[in-house]
Amino acid sequence: MSLGCHNVSLEIARVAAISYAAGGYSDVHEGVHRKLGKVAVKRPRFTSETKVAKEERLMKECSLLAKLDHDNILRCIGYCVYNDARCLVTPWAENGTMSRYLRTEAAADRRRLLADIASALVYLHTRPLPIVHGDLHVDNVLINVDGRALLSDFGLSRELHPEGAASATRTSLGRLVYTAPELHDGYKPSLASDVFAFGMLIVETYSGRRPLARAATDVKALIVLSQSQRPSRDEITRGDFLRHLWELAQECWAHDPALRPNMIDVLPRLTRIPE
Ligand SMILES: Nc1ncnc2c1ncn2[C@@H]1O[C@H](COP(=O)(O)OP(=O)(O)OP(=O)(O)O)[C@@H](O)[C@H]1O
Ligand SMILES: [Mg+2]
Repeated sequence: MSLGCHNVSLEIARVAAISYAAGGYSDVHEGVHRKLGKVAVKRPRFTSETKVAKEERLMKECSLLAKLDHDNILRCIGYCVYNDARCLVTPWAENGTMSRYLRTEAAADRRRLLADIASALVYLHTRPLPIVHGDLHVDNVLINVDGRALLSDFGLSRELHPEGAASATRTSLGRLVYTAPELHDGYKPSLASDVFAFGMLIVETYSGRRPLARAATDVKALIVLSQSQRPSRDEITRGDFLRHLWELAQECWAHDPALRPNMIDVLPRLTRIPE
């Protein structure tokens, strides 16, 4: 159950002074909640000029997360004031990011992790005001103590309003190879751009490397993508990568967003018993 985006500062017994991880716009510290135990405290990184905007962005993430209640979405405990900034408080994910987990757990059930994430995306995409996650990749998925995937980092997420008026203009894109080509032409993130990212996630989950590994840098990978090239099958050497997952990934990263499947169709194709 979601606890809402309210001030839980008094519940936080301590926060580690040295950050555990540095994200693109925040530092994440380990903390201790008096009742819930270990928590993550995500503090925006700012200068005196950017403080208001950065804090506001994090509080937006907090409010959005607080509306959500799904087993595969990182729960919002609330916010706390730490080191002169409002910070997002979430339960600590014992097994770290999915990228790390895939590196350390050779036997991890990759298809189940993908099904966990697909299930979270179906939940977001089928809400009365559908939510675009907007920044799906292996470092924005966390793994809990039971080895289940938790979708996290809703810093670029948006509710889709029918007229499009209320959704803020996007100021930054997510990780380059996960970014659907239409977003580089100025189109707004959509449910279909999340599906594109999911296709890339299928590849990275099994290859353990950035999709389009043949391109030396992220920028080169982006150029290759914009020329309508896509990851190749030989990027994945694991024997448990099933043919129907490769076919699914190819459908997800179709150039034309209208040709991509929706997440409701994707989910059963992940959980289906292979022939
Ligand atoms: N609840 C948590 N439990 C454990 N680790 C966490 C938790 N939340 C965040 N982290 C760690 O902190 C990192 C950064 O968090 P997050 O992705 O939310 O921040 P960010 O600033 O939006 O990052 P970026 O913009 O680079 O994607 C994660 O990749 C992860 O390593
Ligand atoms: Mg992140």
